[in-house]
Amino acid sequence: MSSAKVRVAQWSIGFLALSIAAVCISANDAPAADAPYQVKDGNKVDAKTLDGWKTWRALACERCHGPNQEGLVGPSLVESLKKLSKEDFHTTIMNGRPEKGMPPFSGSAMVNKNWEGLYAYLKGRSDGKIQPGHVYPME
Ligand code: HEC
Repeated sequence: MSSAKVRVAQWSIGFLALSIAAVCISANDAPAADAPYQVKDGNKVDAKTLDGWKTWRALACERCHGPNQEGLVGPSLVESLKKLSKEDFHTTIMNGRPEKGMPPFSGSAMVNKNWEGLYAYLKGRSDGKIQPGHVYPME
């Protein structure tokens, strides 16, 4: 092959690799169709999910589950939410598991109002779609 042809071939392979990478990234960026949250750019979320995050902050779940949900004295919720059903999540945060150190939150008006958003937020963290830290309203 002439060096010009080699260059074209190299360029084509490079371009192909980039295209594949781009497809993978964009596929990875989009939450599943049935996801309970919507997210853009990793930190802009729908109103319900935003209220869920505010509830997380207000109730200071991070004291036991870590500021990035990675676990502390309580388990990592990034891991837990991969398996825990929405119903079991609801039961756990309402009743707690007092004998194991998880307090009940049924007395909190904010949790009663926003528990589904809290579930949505944590699901987005668990799916790796919502970045750790501050989240903002979607446009
Ligand atoms: C005082 C510490 C503490 C606080 C505060 C706390 N948790 Fe927990 N949480 C725990 C512990 C400990 C467990 C593990 C219980 C067990 O072993 O079953 C747990 C378990 C859970 C589970 C179940 C995990 C699983 O894998 O089954 C969820 C969901 C959860 N917590 C959510 C929350 C949320 C949301 C908040 C804030 C509203 C919160 N927790 C606040 C200590 C805490």
